[in-house]
Amino acid sequence: MARIFSGIQPSGELHIGNYLGAVKNWVALQATAESFFCIVDYHAIIAAYDPADLRIRRREMALGLLASGLDPQHTSVFVQSDVPEHTELAWIFNTVTPVGELERQTQFKDKSARQESVMAGLLNYPILQAADILLYRADTVPVGEDQVQHLELSRVIARRWNAQYAPDADYFPEPQPKLTPTRRIMGLDGQAKMSKSLNNTIGLMESPEEIWAKLRPAMTDPKRIKKTDPGTPEVCNIYHLHKAFSPPATVEHVAMQCSTAGWGCIDCKKVLAGSMETELVPIRSRAAELRARPAALDEALAAGAEKCRRVAKETMRGVRDRMGFD
Ligand code: TRP
Repeated sequence: MARIFSGIQPSGELHIGNYLGAVKNWVALQATAESFFCIVDYHAIIAAYDPADLRIRRREMALGLLASGLDPQHTSVFVQSDVPEHTELAWIFNTVTPVGELERQTQFKDKSARQESVMAGLLNYPILQAADILLYRADTVPVGEDQVQHLELSRVIARRWNAQYAPDADYFPEPQPKLTPTRRIMGLDGQAKMSKSLNNTIGLMESPEEIWAKLRPAMTDPKRIKKTDPGTPEVCNIYHLHKAFSPPATVEHVAMQCSTAGWGCIDCKKVLAGSMETELVPIRSRAAELRARPAALDEALAAGAEKCRRVAKETMRGVRDRMGFD
């Protein structure tokens, strides 16, 4: 049976960029295979952080994942640090990964260039990611474009470990990325990727009033100055949000109204707010239910971790055996 694995940082409340760029796709895929979705809190400590805050962000993320529709009855939703084998396997993979491969990762190059003193954890980040995936011997990893290089490295690691310790069997399958179908979601500024650190997000659980307060002034087609100017939907961030939230007929109608100056941008944004409401109402109400019953969230995470520890132990038994640790 195919296995799906993916991970998300415990950044706290999900925003619509995380949702459209990752989580919505996970929800769609969860029933197609045995699925594991991990809140990667060990990855989150490579930058300075507040421990009390980490606890809150981890829980908020778990709540957001379940509210979005991941179903703990059929899918393992769990916290990375609840399964110690992740770091055990990461250490082992450290010993089969050339430093040059790590230094070539674009994320490492970008992040390390901005720091005076670079921690080994930043360099080794993709090794822990490979351990996450391979611990479950997952073959399919739904991610965005920015993770493709890390996945390539996971395959290199699987291949190297197999060649060295399991030459007769492909113990670790080579995991393939499954790219999110939605185009990358830009922030409200229409300039940069939607990201919490850039303060350009719409939260998944925000109220309709809060969402409208953000949508109303949001960037549209930069060349459209007046309502009577015809717009160019393809260059407008709001149009791309329509593609993510509105039904196809509405998307077509919006494009027509925009390019013929039939509607002003506010008209267009009102329709978008309506489409977002349709998608977000059930998410918001599941979130409210989970907030009212915190024990249900604890139970779901505990069950997820238990199942994952079982699978992880099984994988590690084979690893330890082949490496002479039994
Ligand atoms: N690096 C991923 C990100 O920043 C998060 C992640 C950690 C992950 N481990 C993973 C994603 C394993 C997919 C599979 O988005």
